[in-house]
Amino acid sequence: MKTLSKLFENNKKWAQSVENQDPDFFKRLSKQQKPKYLWIGCADSRVPATQICGLDPGEMFVHRNIANLVSYRDLNCLSVIDYAVNYLKVTDIIVCGHYGCGGVEGALNQKDLGLINYWIQDIAETYEKNHTHINEKCTGHGEQLNRLCELNVEKQIENISALPVVQKAWKAGRDLTIHGWIYSIEDGLLKDLGHQMQKIEQLPKALQLDFD
Ligand code: CO
Repeated sequence: MKTLSKLFENNKKWAQSVENQDPDFFKRLSKQQKPKYLWIGCADSRVPATQICGLDPGEMFVHRNIANLVSYRDLNCLSVIDYAVNYLKVTDIIVCGHYGCGGVEGALNQKDLGLINYWIQDIAETYEKNHTHINEKCTGHGEQLNRLCELNVEKQIENISALPVVQKAWKAGRDLTIHGWIYSIEDGLLKDLGHQMQKIEQLPKALQLDFD
C-alpha cells in the first residue's frame, strides 16, 4: 500500500502547531463553519486560496477548477454558489484568476485539446469577442495571455452575477459583493481588477431577472 507518509507526518506537525497556538481551535471549528468569503479560483497548485489570503481554516469557502470558470452546465460549481449564498450567507464572492493560466492559454492557442476544449469554450468566446483589442493593445504572447486572463475573470463576474441565486439575494436586499481578482505567481501578490457587482441594476438589461 502506498501511504504518502510524508504528508501524514506534515499533517501531524501542522495540527500540533495549530493546537499549541490555540488549544480550542479544532474544537471550535468542528462545531460549525461561518466563512464570509466564497473563493472561486483556478485549480493550479500554485494558487492555494486560503494560504495566499493569510486566512485560517474555516474562513473561506473554496471552489477551484481549471481556469476559474462558472459554467451554467457545472452542477458542482452551481451547488457551491447556491450553498454559499443561501446557507452560509457569505457576503463576498471572489473570482480569482492568475496570470499565465494554462487553461486560458489553451483557449488563446486554439489547439485541439480534446475534452478540455469544451471546458474552456467560455474563454474561447471571450477571446473571440476581444481579439482585436487584445492583438492591438498587447505585444507578444505573454501579454496577450495575461490580458485574456483578466478578461476571463471579468466574464466570470458577469456569469456569477447573472445567476438566479445571486440576483434573488440582491432582490431580497442582501449584502453580497462579487469581486474580480487576479494573482501573480511571480511575486505572490493579488490585484483587484475593480469590476465589482453589488446589485441587479449593474447587469446588462437582458440578463436581469424579473422576480415579481
Ligand atoms: Co490556471
